[in-house]
Amino acid sequence: MRTFKALTLVSTLCLSVLAAGQNDTFQFEEASILDIQTAFSRGTLTSRQLVQWYVDRIHEHDHNYNSISEMNPDIFKLADKADAERKAGREHGLLHGIPILLKDNIATGDQMHNTAGSLALYSEECKPTRDSTIASKLRKAGALIFGKACMSEWANLRTTDGSGAEYKDPDGWSGRCGQTHNAYNITRSPSGSSGGPAVAVALNFVTASIGTDTDCSIIAPAAIHGLVGIRPTVGLISRDLVIPISHSQDTPGPMAKSVTDAAIMLEALAGKDPRDPLTNMPPNPNKSIKYTRYLKKDGLRGARIGIPRHLYWEKFTHPEEKAVAEQAIEKLRSLGATIVDPADIPTADQINDPSYGLGGLEFTLLNYEFKQDVKAYLSNLKEQCPMKDLADLIQFNKDHAAEEMPYFKQEVFEIAQNTTDLNDPFYKETLRLNRELSGPKGIDTVFKQYNLDAMFVPVDWGFFPPQPLAMAGYPQISIPVGIDQDGVPFGMSFYARAYDEPKLIKYAYAFEQATKARRPPQLL
Ligand SMILES: *[C@@H]1O[C@H](CO)[C@@H](O)[C@H](O)[C@H]1NC(C)=O
Ligand SMILES: *[C@@H]1O[C@H](CO)[C@@H](O)[C@H](O)[C@H]1NC(C)=O
Ligand SMILES: *[C@@H]1O[C@H](CO)[C@@H](O)[C@H](O)[C@H]1NC(C)=O
Ligand SMILES: *[C@@H]1O[C@H](CO)[C@@H](O)[C@H](O)[C@H]1NC(C)=O
Repeated sequence: MRTFKALTLVSTLCLSVLAAGQNDTFQFEEASILDIQTAFSRGTLTSRQLVQWYVDRIHEHDHNYNSISEMNPDIFKLADKADAERKAGREHGLLHGIPILLKDNIATGDQMHNTAGSLALYSEECKPTRDSTIASKLRKAGALIFGKACMSEWANLRTTDGSGAEYKDPDGWSGRCGQTHNAYNITRSPSGSSGGPAVAVALNFVTASIGTDTDCSIIAPAAIHGLVGIRPTVGLISRDLVIPISHSQDTPGPMAKSVTDAAIMLEALAGKDPRDPLTNMPPNPNKSIKYTRYLKKDGLRGARIGIPRHLYWEKFTHPEEKAVAEQAIEKLRSLGATIVDPADIPTADQINDPSYGLGGLEFTLLNYEFKQDVKAYLSNLKEQCPMKDLADLIQFNKDHAAEEMPYFKQEVFEIAQNTTDLNDPFYKETLRLNRELSGPKGIDTVFKQYNLDAMFVPVDWGFFPPQPLAMAGYPQISIPVGIDQDGVPFGMSFYARAYDEPKLIKYAYAFEQATKARRPPQLL
């Protein structure tokens, strides 16, 4: 009975794994969620064995990469519980018994810390007292919270100048972890801010992970690790007890080796939460969406895809990758999409005007919101946690400069600390402009003009302009397309309007199945 149930779940996704024939030697490397569930159902693999394999691999190899900030001390207990539940026929679905790694800004009510990479929160007193809503949703779906992953400290909001750091950018460095390295070439940055979650999944240290994205923080590290990353619509997934930058733009999202794995996770994470009022905004917040239904090989047929040449393609900084990106457009065409080229965003230049406010529209907004939002997060911690607001964090860094500021300072923190509050008319005007120029006058205008379903853009790790889709709170998916001259993958992304994740999953899946561009990294 229980075997039947799990096999039914697997076969409804009509994957070819079952046709692969009997082989009781489980292939751990590159195993997908469905491969794992199939082996669980056949009785040839247990969660404990799976976890043991990942843990051994991490012990042997993570010292070269530095992707994991802490392992869940309870992980084997959780695995045994999942195995016992499976034996007893009590399964929860496709995530049951699957280990998932969380970026170190997503709170868990267990023995682990939640630090955003900062030593200021790395203490017993500042540990979260309960699960974030997404951690509790993962547990309800049967997933095993595997551990926490290193990240760019404070998701890159402490500084923009990392010229003193190893990769001449602040990405992948934190006081808590030190420097995280790219999984494909350790002389390269892991990108950020969800660098650790990307490195660990790419190296098969865990099945999948959860990152967070304010603008490119899931998409960029996923792209340069040959992964699929989804930045969902802001409000699709609860931000409860996720250390914030900005309530207008932040969202957690899945990072995985395939569109299928990412869609399975999105399905488990989406949904309304009284603790995050924005999750009541979806057109039908009471209905859960079966994202896995959109895994369609012919998903691009009839889709209208725009190419925003101005700025987002023009400024693409890598000539060799540009050729591959152009070929990817041809691929979309050959898969039945109608390409509208160019389909420029009319407000792109205004959005990217650095003379606005504190250094651009988005930057201004993030600084105002961070100061308030981080204070709200800290207010959830125990009374004994000495960090109450941004001023405390700034002081902590000054008091611990040797550990916290050896490579870069905290000038963005200081800019944010200088802002007033969210009643300030200047903030309100910034928010209004941010929304209007990115959404109604920007993306919505060009989508209506050409009747578009989605946009297609390269993910350029050398040039991250504020992306209008992130400012509008719209969703994006990145998918691998190729490998550069240094052996490091790069990716393309689709984005669409609010709550159009089904379209993004359809297009990315069709593209992925036609290209199969992911190549796992070689371990050092
Ligand atoms: C089973 O899989 C392993 C690993 O892929 C392979 O080495 C082995 O030859 C396979 N055995 C059979 C009987 O197919
Ligand atoms: C969702 O359900 C709640 C009750 O749980 C109800 O108050 C609300 O109106 C529903 N929202 C929609 C859009 O149907
Ligand atoms: C903070 O504001 C004061 C007064 O406007 C200004 O002199 C100072 O340079 C600002 N500091 C930062 C880091 O922006
Ligand atoms: C790794 O990247 C460096 C540049 O940072 C490059 O010189 C080197 O050849 C790359 N290594 C491999 C194995 O491609």
